[in-house]
Amino acid sequence: MNAKIKVIIFFLLALSIWSACNSNIYQQGEWLYNTNCANCHMEDGTGLGTNIPPLAGADYLALYKNQLACIIRYGIKDTIIVNGKTYSQAMAGHAKLTETEITNIINYIHQAWGNELPPISLVEVTEQLKNCK
Ligand code: HEC
Repeated sequence: MNAKIKVIIFFLLALSIWSACNSNIYQQGEWLYNTNCANCHMEDGTGLGTNIPPLAGADYLALYKNQLACIIRYGIKDTIIVNGKTYSQAMAGHAKLTETEITNIINYIHQAWGNELPPISLVEVTEQLKNCK
């Protein structure tokens, strides 16, 4: 085998491992979302009437991106506005989710249902969780 072919094979292998890992992470996020969040926010992220705000197409996600990990871990009990609509039911926290799991859920939400938000890293989530209000 000549060197060029070896290099090409190496890159193809690296690429396939990389994409397999990425899709596993996305699938873990999807599974965790469906298990922990979908009963309220729905599997398609549209929320429920005037009680549960949507996550699909929600302006809130970009506006408060520095608080999403805190919301997931500690819940939120506030009056908030999502896409121009007011919500004021409380959401309980999910204390059992690890930082990695929270990262994977956020990354799933950021890319699901046509959402196009940038990925968040475990380091960013860990930092965020140190500074929850
Ligand atoms: C028991 C129902 C319930 C569950 C389960 C739940 N939420 Fe919520 N969520 C709410 C409610 C109600 C609000 C609005 C809270 C407020 O008005 O203070 C909310 C608000 C949010 C918000 C901010 C508003 C928005 O629409 O962007 C995010 C983000 C969010 N939830 C993500 C999640 C994630 C991720 C999970 C799973 C780990 C989850 N929620 C599980 C009920 C729920």
